[in-house]
Amino acid sequence: MNTLVGHDILTSDQFTLEELNLILSAAQQFETIINAGGIVDVMRNRVLATLFYEPSTRTRLSFESAMLQLGGQVLSVADAKSSSSAAKGETLYDTGKMIEGYAHVAVIRHPREGSAQELANGAGIPIINGGDGAGQHPTQALLDLYTIQKETGRLEELTVTLVGDLKYGRTVHSLAPLLARFGTRFMFVAPLELAMPAGITNQLREQGVEVVEMNDLGEAVQQSDVLYVTRIQKERFADPAQYETLKGAYVVDRSLIEQARPELTIMHPLPRVDEIAVEVDSFPGAAYFRQAANGVMVRMALLALVTGRI
Ligand code: CP
Repeated sequence: MNTLVGHDILTSDQFTLEELNLILSAAQQFETIINAGGIVDVMRNRVLATLFYEPSTRTRLSFESAMLQLGGQVLSVADAKSSSSAAKGETLYDTGKMIEGYAHVAVIRHPREGSAQELANGAGIPIINGGDGAGQHPTQALLDLYTIQKETGRLEELTVTLVGDLKYGRTVHSLAPLLARFGTRFMFVAPLELAMPAGITNQLREQGVEVVEMNDLGEAVQQSDVLYVTRIQKERFADPAQYETLKGAYVVDRSLIEQARPELTIMHPLPRVDEIAVEVDSFPGAAYFRQAANGVMVRMALLALVTGRI
């Protein structure tokens, strides 16, 4: 039973276990059909609006690719901050009221935490959060889950290291609570100034999840099944000088990966700057470009599910 019909997708902790399985299995089915050269056009006569107030390559293009591969159509505002009526002072609530007349489902990315909820408050169509400031990026977490399952063969009982900017990195804020539901043991590796917010770490520990905060990335990598690397989020720093002192704090290179278990899966939501050396791309476990490609299948599943087309 599809319990996601008509629902907004705003945070990664909104899903039941049944809904997670539904999304992952729908994505898997779409992938099987597409890889066999089949057509899945369940979104015929449906329109997706993509409203991006912040830069994106993967999220916007993969949502648009997903909709087109489902036989639907796309209305896109790629630079909504300056090219939409937001520049004239229109609120997200009013924008929501407008887009429900133009589209059947919408994706928003915005620099402000809580923005997707504001749009959803006005809109009578499903709103999908494509990243709200340092808050949440739930569809990234879903495609991360899908990737981990594909790459490692399981979701249960993994040891996962999250490294980099755990303070501002919305992808890890969404991914950690999802993985915790499958018994993940975590290692958090970050400069002190960019540690995982205490609210998230404390909540995980209260649930009985093992979380080890450490500085030594080499030690963490040796124990890990999955290494999830994040970019230092330059755009979130109030003080550019602080970014300069913290950038390059952790770099994943060949010498680090040679210390790891041979089956290590290396992930990154991308874009990368300098935190994974290009020499790592040729390692079999370097999954980050495959991870980005998986976004299309997972977003196909979400679009079809929230609009009740499957
Ligand atoms: N991973 C991700 O959200 O990438 P974009 O910023 O390119 O959408």
